[in-house]
Amino acid sequence: MIERRDFLAGLGATAGALMLPPDAAGTVAGDLAPRRQATSDLWRDLRQQFQLPADYAYFNTAGLGASPRAVSDRVKSEMDREELSPAPGHSESDWTRIRGKCASLLGPSCSAGEIALVSTATEGINIVLNGLPLEKGDEVITSTHEHPALVIPLLHKIGTAGIVLRTFEPDLGTRAGTVERIRALMTPRTRLIFVSHVTCTTGQILPVAEIGRLADERHVWFALDGAQSLAQFPIDIAATGAHCFAASCHKFLMGPKRTGILYVRRDRLPELESTVVGAYSDQATSLAERQLTLRADAQRFEYGTQNAALIYGIESAVDFVAALGLPRIWQHNQAMAERFRKALQAQKSVELLSPAEAEARSAMVTFRIPGRNNGQVANALTARRLRVRSVTEAGLDAVRASFHVCNTDAEVDKLISAVAAEQG
Ligand SMILES: Cc1ncc(COP(=O)(O)O)c(C=O)c1O
Repeated sequence: MIERRDFLAGLGATAGALMLPPDAAGTVAGDLAPRRQATSDLWRDLRQQFQLPADYAYFNTAGLGASPRAVSDRVKSEMDREELSPAPGHSESDWTRIRGKCASLLGPSCSAGEIALVSTATEGINIVLNGLPLEKGDEVITSTHEHPALVIPLLHKIGTAGIVLRTFEPDLGTRAGTVERIRALMTPRTRLIFVSHVTCTTGQILPVAEIGRLADERHVWFALDGAQSLAQFPIDIAATGAHCFAASCHKFLMGPKRTGILYVRRDRLPELESTVVGAYSDQATSLAERQLTLRADAQRFEYGTQNAALIYGIESAVDFVAALGLPRIWQHNQAMAERFRKALQAQKSVELLSPAEAEARSAMVTFRIPGRNNGQVANALTARRLRVRSVTEAGLDAVRASFHVCNTDAEVDKLISAVAAEQG
């Protein structure tokens, strides 16, 4: 077991090599009290790893993650290093290592060759939608709670390929209800189910394994928008049955801004056409022989010069999360979200939009104050230096708070009191 102080000091440099004390869940009862104490001190002290001002509580990781110093320092130092001797290209071995670390966030069976380093979840989504052989009249199923990052490419595809969109509203009551709504939309023309793993509106974790089984039964493609799930909780991508998973690294992973990954399952790589290619997408190229062989792995979806500092920043972000332990982060964030949710449940003029079933709840809590303009409520809370986000997608008028390691229990308490004050 290492000392909390050593752990925090080490995060800046060698986070990946460090381990926290064993999870309290794995200890004998007599051990629990001192460990809980140490752990709660750790979360409080961890706040210092962020440049967020002390009086500013940031509850919008789901919008854009705050990066810890371990990440921003790495990006700055790599940028400076690059300027000493700018050179095109990048280290193949470093990139393979970093893709491998990203793959580790998607479970033990995911490999570096299934990961492409992209700029955003949006880019990954576009690679998938443009790479699939979608034709006029082909049907795509999605939810009414998707982010514009998926809605806009899907609508664009109606114009460019003539696809037909079929939408369902996620069931906030039961997971089975959501699966049944999708099943009811399936026809012989269904080619693709493309949904969020965690919705950006209500923070609902969709029943992806069940949806994946349905897709498999009907032989249709299954793609996930993982912008909100990557590094929010442990993922076993193989268990979801998803063929593709597009995600941002600049949300719960807390990586540098404008970074993302695209996972394409090994057996589906040859079927997904690469629509934007260039240097680094190829295995072998000969203009004289008019020959091109694209990479067999997901690197075929990468192209052109990359911003190396950002890619190294992704590595530091994965190391940071790994050093804390993703199961532990998830447990901690869920506890904050649950405390907030329960406190709001007790406030009589607040309506919670969180899912009924605990398994469907994430570290994002959405609520509204009926009778108020909730965009204004979000602005008022933010003006009190409690940064939340208003939710207008899916016709909602609500407020979302997302909880992560840059938050403390004291900040959650402030938010609870401020929401109470907003009800007059
Ligand atoms: C569900 C979802 N998908 C996609 C995005 C967009 O991510 P990016 O900016 O990385 O494309 C967001 C951003 O909030 C999101 O919540």
